[in-house]
Amino acid sequence: MLLQFMVFACSDSRVCPSQILDFQPGEAFMVRNIANMVPPYDLTKYSGVGAAIEYAVLHLKVENIVVIGHSRCGGIKGLMSLPDDGSTSSDFIEQWVKICSNARSKVKTDCSDMSFDEQCFHCEKEAVNISLGNLLTYPFVREAVVKKTLALKGGHYDFVDGCFTLWDLDFKISPTISV
Ligand SMILES: *[C@@H]1O[C@H](CO)[C@@H](O)[C@H](O)[C@H]1NC(C)=O
Ligand SMILES: [Zn+2]
Repeated sequence: MLLQFMVFACSDSRVCPSQILDFQPGEAFMVRNIANMVPPYDLTKYSGVGAAIEYAVLHLKVENIVVIGHSRCGGIKGLMSLPDDGSTSSDFIEQWVKICSNARSKVKTDCSDMSFDEQCFHCEKEAVNISLGNLLTYPFVREAVVKKTLALKGGHYDFVDGCFTLWDLDFKISPTISV
């Protein structure tokens, strides 16, 4: 069975990808987790995500991986609310959303004049870009992207106004560059 899409979406019950993008059964291989994050390649952690990506790319031979963020994401709000001293008070949640802590720092710097809600909105998109970059740390993803058999795309769904935005990854990548 070959598939066109692998989709990362948030576990949030309001943002079901099949409903947003009208996927039929058999059309999209999906991973849903807190704040639709893709962790970097790591053989000791995050193996559930790694296994899903490996299966999608090497066995299903998906042509697109789409990471979809969404408006009013609780996970992103959690990321933006983390204390600056790096301390955590949850068993899993904060460590998980820290996968995109670079998005948090970028937004805190670039959007310092904005309200907290606006910062979260920007971070929802910025975090998608971090995840797209993390996808390239998986050797089989990088190889397929370089061969152009696989495209990486970012998306954001605003369920308040029903607006869905899609963008292409336009990192300059070469087969030898390390992320
Ligand atoms: C995400 O990446 C795309 C493509 O590289 C870029 O056009 C866009 O501005 C980035 N978005 C944010 C919020 O950084
Ligand atoms: Zn969410």
